[in-house]
Amino acid sequence: MTPPTPLIAGNWKMNGTGQALVEARAIAAAATDAGVRLALCPPATLLERMSREVAGTKLEVGGQDCHAEASGAFTGDVSAEMLAEAGAQLVILGHSERRAGYGETDAAVAAKASAALRAGLEPIICVGETRAEREEGRALAVVTGQIRGSLPAELAGKAFTVAYEPVWAIGTGLTPTLEDITEVHHAIRATLMDMFGEAGAAPAILYGGSVKPGNAAEILALPEVGGALVGGASLKAADFLAIVAGAPKA
Ligand code: 13P
Repeated sequence: MTPPTPLIAGNWKMNGTGQALVEARAIAAAATDAGVRLALCPPATLLERMSREVAGTKLEVGGQDCHAEASGAFTGDVSAEMLAEAGAQLVILGHSERRAGYGETDAAVAAKASAALRAGLEPIICVGETRAEREEGRALAVVTGQIRGSLPAELAGKAFTVAYEPVWAIGTGLTPTLEDITEVHHAIRATLMDMFGEAGAAPAILYGGSVKPGNAAEILALPEVGGALVGGASLKAADFLAIVAGAPKA
């Protein structure tokens, strides 16, 4: 099976008002290389405008979370169908900021992944251990457990992506060693193959956590690293594009 096309996705988190669309336009203008997929996941308030402004370019747009239901009495939530209508092609699910801050369980993430498929969105499902879990030698067990719990069986054969984001590496400037990233990505791939058979070879496995222009190339060159999920460095087109420039081409 051909390796997955690398994906470099920016997660803007709760950052960005209309003025920030200039960064998206600059990224879209530079997104001409067919060998790497590029995506930005802005706050829900910017999704529709961003997707209109980058329509016809190679820049994909995604949400940062969705509710498991299509509609209903869920104040403040946004459904996968709503994201899709606003122009999203992808949706980040199970980010550690939602697992930790909003008590999202693996089962809740799996239900959201089913919702994403229902709405025609490609889920980017995030997993990652805490500092304490790594120090206790449990990183692989935690991450593979999250994979088994957060990926519904119906993902088999569908387009989806996994992002390994160690909680302690997010926004801290710290990253695991290249050996540790490789070890976790291999464990994720083995788990996907176990769960989905041959189809488990298809999804890209992204690394996320303090990816910057200065460390992107060496991380992106690792075996089984199929791209990056970038937080802070995705807010400026120059930084994001410098990361993209370091990606090996599929
Ligand atoms: P940083 O790149 O800011 O560490 O954030 C990573 C992240 O959480 C992406 O989802």
